[in-house]
Amino acid sequence: MGSLINKHVLLGVTGGIAAYKSADLVRRLRDAGAEVRVIMTRSATEFITPLTLQAVSGHPVHQHFLDTSAEAGMGHIELARWADAVLVAPASANFLARLAQGRADDLLSAVCLATEARVAVTPAMNQQMWNNAATQSNLATIKKNAIRIFGPAAGSQACGEVGPGRMLEPVELVTLASELFATGELDGLTVLVTAGPTWEAIDPVRGLTNRSSGKMGYAVAEAAAESGARVILVSGPTSLPDPERVRTLRVESAQEMYDTVHQHAAAADIFIGVAAVADYRPVRAADRKIKKTEETMALELERNPDILASVTALRPAPFTVGFAAETENIEPQARRKLENKNLDLVAANRVGADIGFAADENSLLLVEREGVIELPTQPKTKLARALIHHIAARYRAKNATKVHRLRRP
Ligand code: C5P
Repeated sequence: MGSLINKHVLLGVTGGIAAYKSADLVRRLRDAGAEVRVIMTRSATEFITPLTLQAVSGHPVHQHFLDTSAEAGMGHIELARWADAVLVAPASANFLARLAQGRADDLLSAVCLATEARVAVTPAMNQQMWNNAATQSNLATIKKNAIRIFGPAAGSQACGEVGPGRMLEPVELVTLASELFATGELDGLTVLVTAGPTWEAIDPVRGLTNRSSGKMGYAVAEAAAESGARVILVSGPTSLPDPERVRTLRVESAQEMYDTVHQHAAAADIFIGVAAVADYRPVRAADRKIKKTEETMALELERNPDILASVTALRPAPFTVGFAAETENIEPQARRKLENKNLDLVAANRVGADIGFAADENSLLLVEREGVIELPTQPKTKLARALIHHIAARYRAKNATKVHRLRRP
């Protein structure tokens, strides 16, 4: 089952009496953790005011296509990119017809065409209109285009008739919307993830650490859980809450991270090392606070174990993914890591003062023996989902080859 926490849900409202339920739907989607933006078609505004949906969503409602001021703000392409899911509720018979034809003559239909996000529609209409052969053939086309159709329910209608065509209730739609994110790509697999920085104690109050926020690793753990995996996250010190449906184990030093990882690595199918592990630690940590008695002081450091390399040395080793945060020469550095640590994949990114650690957006270069793929700049949550999608495909391909080899006489 997926989750709506931190998901960007773009709610499309079209013209139908069920639009009165859209305000409740926005509130419930937000209660479930989603950030909601609303697009209304012109006829939707005959049933409910943009002001109502602005108040409940906390954002101005988007209504106009190719309007200079609207496009200068968040235009149709930005909205299409912003969305993790587009939910049209209610979806009128007219809107379904336009969606089936792939029209782009108003903001909502253009966004549905332009988005890579999951799209779902919630039909609501008179039962005769629903049963009409034209509507049914439009629905068949929409389904073929991988758009999900939620409902409708049957029962008494606003027009006084009884039959199919009632919009599903907001509470049911929230559950269905969260299931849009459950891909099942990693069903039955165990994924072990490291995240955050490590803390190498100098004395009880001071230590060596780095600028890793843990955001990317946590997003990777969440995306893996959403894909059906059992996920164990070994996290260095961060200020982030434990991700939903993920077993989070908190550690401080690289050595503790190493020990905790090895308690679980043998049972893991996939290991993803996102943590920014300190390369060195103080040889001795003082057991009392060090006083400033001398003009200079030397700190003797020793190497920490390489967690990633120690996991690929296991037999059998899980499918192993490393991260490489570099300030320059990203691809060659990542390729060197791929070979030296015997990894299946390196996800490399550029870090600097302006990009990388604490930011909410990032891009990744996926470096593997077969070649290089670029995942362009996007929110870390989306990036993590794209990465998990890629890892799932590579994991399946690798294991299919193994099975094939075992079966060969
Ligand atoms: O060697 P380098 O630190 O550049 O490699 C980065 C990758 O190696 C990351 O995936 C990081 O989690 C992992 N790593 C590790 N143990 C270390 C150092 C890095 O697992 N001691």
